[in-house]
Amino acid sequence: MATVTTSSSRPYHVIIFGASGFTGQFVVEEVARTTGEGPESNLKWAVAGRSRKKLESVLDHVANTLETPELRCAVEVIVADVGHPESLAIMCKQAVIVLNCVGPYRFYGEPVVKACVENGAHYIDICGEPQFLEAVQLVFDKKARENGVYVIGSCGFDSIPADMGILYTREKFKGTLTAVESFLTVSTGPEGGCGHDATWQSAIYGFADAARLRSLRKQFKHKPLPELGAKIKRRGALFFCAEIDQYAVPFMGSDPSVVRRTQRYLCEEDQQCPVQYCAYAGVGGVCSVLKLLFSGFFFWLLVKCSLGRSLLTKFPAFFSLGLFSKAGPTQKQMEGTSFRMTFYGEGYTKGHDPSQGMPDGRITTEIRGAEPGYVVTPVVMVQAAMTFLNEPQSLPERGGVFTPGAAFGRTSLIRRLHRHGLKFTVTSQQGAS
Ligand SMILES: NC(=O)c1ccc[n+]([C@@H]2O[C@H](COP(=O)([O-])OP(=O)(O)OC[C@H]3O[C@@H](n4cnc5c(N)ncnc54)[C@H](OP(=O)(O)O)[C@@H]3O)[C@@H](O)[C@H]2O)c1
Repeated sequence: MATVTTSSSRPYHVIIFGASGFTGQFVVEEVARTTGEGPESNLKWAVAGRSRKKLESVLDHVANTLETPELRCAVEVIVADVGHPESLAIMCKQAVIVLNCVGPYRFYGEPVVKACVENGAHYIDICGEPQFLEAVQLVFDKKARENGVYVIGSCGFDSIPADMGILYTREKFKGTLTAVESFLTVSTGPEGGCGHDATWQSAIYGFADAARLRSLRKQFKHKPLPELGAKIKRRGALFFCAEIDQYAVPFMGSDPSVVRRTQRYLCEEDQQCPVQYCAYAGVGGVCSVLKLLFSGFFFWLLVKCSLGRSLLTKFPAFFSLGLFSKAGPTQKQMEGTSFRMTFYGEGYTKGHDPSQGMPDGRITTEIRGAEPGYVVTPVVMVQAAMTFLNEPQSLPERGGVFTPGAAFGRTSLIRRLHRHGLKFTVTSQQGAS
């Protein structure tokens, strides 16, 4: 195992912080599975969180699931609490990378990033909250650069498929790719499916605080990104999409924000042509649209006041019409769920000038995978960490705060994900010889 040289004297390659959480337990399982065989078998890792008892019971559970009883004694438990900075510092001094699964990040994330940056531990999270991700860039980028620490947010389903999917589409397009629309569809089995409470809370507070995100963005003082080629099509708030054969709405998660930050980084650091991007999610047929409008109206009404937010937080299953629950999805529900993200790209084939006329080339790519939140996310997070440890020469030359695309654009992450069940394919390409 190649490790990042500055940190190779640390006892653990990876510490999973928040290992007792709903998602954290699956990240533990994925790390255990990954290190059980193959080139990653010498990885040294530990679990961390605020309750030793809960962490031990997660290790017990994973040992039973994977039939690896030795795990109980072999994996160290570190007690650290977001409210106790000294405990975070002790944890961070022991790790090459901290995998942070403690969320919502807007409430718990900042002290963890700070402790990592100050104590020389690299940082990966699975945050899907644009406000936190962009605030981290604003506050910690300079210090992270100075300390040679890599802080890489949104390394879960939010937003690795979207961010790496755009890079994949651009690499496969024979010419200059200028615009991409992505459509996410999620299919569930007969048992249905849902997300866990913490993600619902992230959504509630993200919507409630939308104005602060706008003012945060102004502080970057960014110049608008150059728009090469024809302007990307602007769609409405709800429309029927023939390609996916269902109604679709703009995707409200972190994908557009993360992709935009990656495109800015690639434009400013590598002089690459930025790709314009819009993200949409399929919502199904007329019945699903009516349900969405009904629950969306109450969400919009309640999210504005603290009493409303406390009602939304107390009764996630009721107000989300079953899309989120305090218990999270069952194993059966997760097994029956899968996703598809389709990218419709357009651009200018070789020899055609993107500053002249309309695009003459089109490409469609897709990523398919298992249940996004708790099956795909742990795989993606762990593969991001393995890529980081194994390919330091392909990372950006300096530390700082990065999106996945900015950090992993030159690595083999896509190939690794493909091998681990996230299937990236080109489904069509027209206009290119
Ligand atoms: N990117 C994606 O697609 C994706 C997918 C899944 C989840 N997520 C995000 O991941 C985060 C976690 O979600 P989840 O469903 O796993 O949440 P969860 O079950 O509520 O887990 C939260 C974890 O944080 C720990 N924690 C809370 N307060 C703490 C403190 N003061 N000090 C130390 N640890 C503390 C909890 O410890 P205890 O067990 O001791 O309470 C638990 O381990 C959320 O932000 C969610 O949105 C993202």
